[in-house]
Amino acid sequence: MTQLRAFIEGMPKAELHLHIEGSLEPELMFSLAQKNNISLPFKTVEEVRDAYQFSDLQDFLDIYYQGMGVLQTEQDFYDLTWAYLTKIHSQNVIHTEIFFDPQGHTDRGISFDTVINGIHRALVDGSEKLGISSYLIMCFLRHLDESAALETLEQALPYKDKIKGVGLDSSELGHPPSKFAHVFARAKQEGFLAVAHAGEEGPPEYVFEALDILKIDRLDHGNRSLENDTLTQRLASTKMALTVCPLSNYKLAGVTDMRQHPLREMLDKNLNATINSDDPAYFGGYMNENYFAVAEALDLSKDDLITLARNGFNATFCNLQEKAALQSRLDDYLKQ
Ligand code: HPA
Ligand code: ZN
Repeated sequence: MTQLRAFIEGMPKAELHLHIEGSLEPELMFSLAQKNNISLPFKTVEEVRDAYQFSDLQDFLDIYYQGMGVLQTEQDFYDLTWAYLTKIHSQNVIHTEIFFDPQGHTDRGISFDTVINGIHRALVDGSEKLGISSYLIMCFLRHLDESAALETLEQALPYKDKIKGVGLDSSELGHPPSKFAHVFARAKQEGFLAVAHAGEEGPPEYVFEALDILKIDRLDHGNRSLENDTLTQRLASTKMALTVCPLSNYKLAGVTDMRQHPLREMLDKNLNATINSDDPAYFGGYMNENYFAVAEALDLSKDDLITLARNGFNATFCNLQEKAALQSRLDDYLKQ
């Protein structure tokens, strides 16, 4: 296993499912709270970490929205994003596609441009100084209504050149993709690509809706798709990419034993699965730790790991030439 761990650590990787607000480490949360005069319900970093025990998605989301309250200025969003980029650089992630939740900020009085300018400036530095290429994906909060999502889309139009796609996150149960049919249609008209969280806690019907109504280009999580054979076969035959997040599934109790994680079945059924970290500061690991967890629990081979990394590069929103360049970084690594 130590050998396989070293192989994972050195392997060039792409991350395709990462909420930037979910990369807020307790240390940065504390320092921003102090700077911005915000009181936290925790006294120490250890107390924060101890509080990160979740029974389900909603239990996590309550703490996640509270945590992001310390983000106030453009520099705060820069610092958050820069910390994430330097961390993944140390893990040989060479391309990342980052979610952000504008409504989590505009609803508490932070302007859209504060959020996007801070994140974007860090991404430019990430490209120039760390060689990490990236795209931004703007998520709509599905527990809010569609009119709020439409307003958010309007706010984003002046920043279209900085945003590659739209996504759908937050509380899944009771908020099916069909609730957002109009805003996704509008976003597609404007040229955005589309992704959606579906089948994390929600049933296979939600995945069908994400495919048929939202016309998604990539599926976030998708675990519960396996409950429906027709859906599973369709995902396989259309090579739809799934952004799987092993430690997230474990921490949110979707998977109680990592040895039962559905990734093995996904690979066996030829699903186009990728490995991602979701909210690494909350779920106990970045990309490499997510790879380690499934490699160990599911006894993955080196070939499985290479397949997962290749799937990741293939599933990016890069053009064919850029994808080939990413794959060749992996080829070079394998030749060493
Ligand atoms: N699921 C849904 N919404 C989210 C998540 C997640 O794992 N992380 C942040 N917002
Ligand atoms: Zn997510």
